[in-house]
Amino acid sequence: MKLLQLFIITSVLTFETSALKGFNKRAWDYGTSDITNYFKNDKDESTKSSEEQQTKESPIPEEPKLSPCSSTNPLTGGFFDLSELSSINQENIVAWSAKGHDYNKNFTLGVCSSPLKPNVEVNNNFDGHFAKYQINSSEVGGFYVDEFGDKFSIGNFNSTPVFRGRKLTLSYHNGSYCPNGIDKKSTLLSFICDREILSKATVSFVGVLHDCDYFFEVRTVHACPTAQKADNLALIWIFLFM
Ligand SMILES: *[C@@H]1O[C@H](CO)[C@@H](O)[C@H](O)[C@H]1NC(C)=O
Ligand SMILES: *[C@@H]1O[C@H](CO)[C@@H](O)[C@H](O)[C@H]1NC(C)=O
Ligand SMILES: *[C@@H]1O[C@H](CO)[C@@H](O)[C@H](O)[C@H]1NC(C)=O
Repeated sequence: MKLLQLFIITSVLTFETSALKGFNKRAWDYGTSDITNYFKNDKDESTKSSEEQQTKESPIPEEPKLSPCSSTNPLTGGFFDLSELSSINQENIVAWSAKGHDYNKNFTLGVCSSPLKPNVEVNNNFDGHFAKYQINSSEVGGFYVDEFGDKFSIGNFNSTPVFRGRKLTLSYHNGSYCPNGIDKKSTLLSFICDREILSKATVSFVGVLHDCDYFFEVRTVHACPTAQKADNLALIWIFLFM
């Protein structure tokens, strides 16, 4: 049985390597290519971007640029990629929902991208008056809908996750006005590595302060170091083979 398992694991890994070669070539090319290069290379494999050439010509090597929605933990050096949870590289808009429970409003969130289509009306008013500045729905990172069906932004998305100690976080700013009419709503997402959940991610609303600052917890396998990604795939394959 042990030998059989070993054989299956070996063949699964081999299969995976060959089947995902094209995918891996890009997916594991972290640090050397950013999203722009990704698309450029798609069009013409042989044309190097001018940025890449500059890097080669310059005597001092530049810091490798991380692709959007990824981060390196300065403590462990581990690489983390949340882009699978975003609309980056996806044809459809990826949105995550979170129940507001006692807040009586449910939330819809994007990770490093907007959960809204362009040109959707987002309410920015406070105290019954419409505020001066317009909210661009393509920049919104999360929103809730009030009892009248109006959408309120809880911040513009950003695609630079930041490590705070061991915590992988992402913050959104410049949402709709807060009740004080001065501050704008903002959001903090805290990502937790979870290999047990069956979905790609679960988003839980943790709380809100002053009707202005929103906190969420996102449990996902994508908050685990990506070096372990292949193992997870292999496990799934083993499960299917058995
Ligand atoms: C929030 O979602 C839950 C379940 O999806 C639903 O029962 C509830 O009515 C929603 N609340 C609001 C305020 O839309
Ligand atoms: C909204 O934001 C997007 C992305 O930043 C931008 O391309 C677009 O021009 C903006 N639209 C308006 C109306 O400002
Ligand atoms: C919020 O918007 C203001 C004005 O548009 C801008 O100056 C500021 O840099 C923005 N803040 C963030 C965190 O994006």
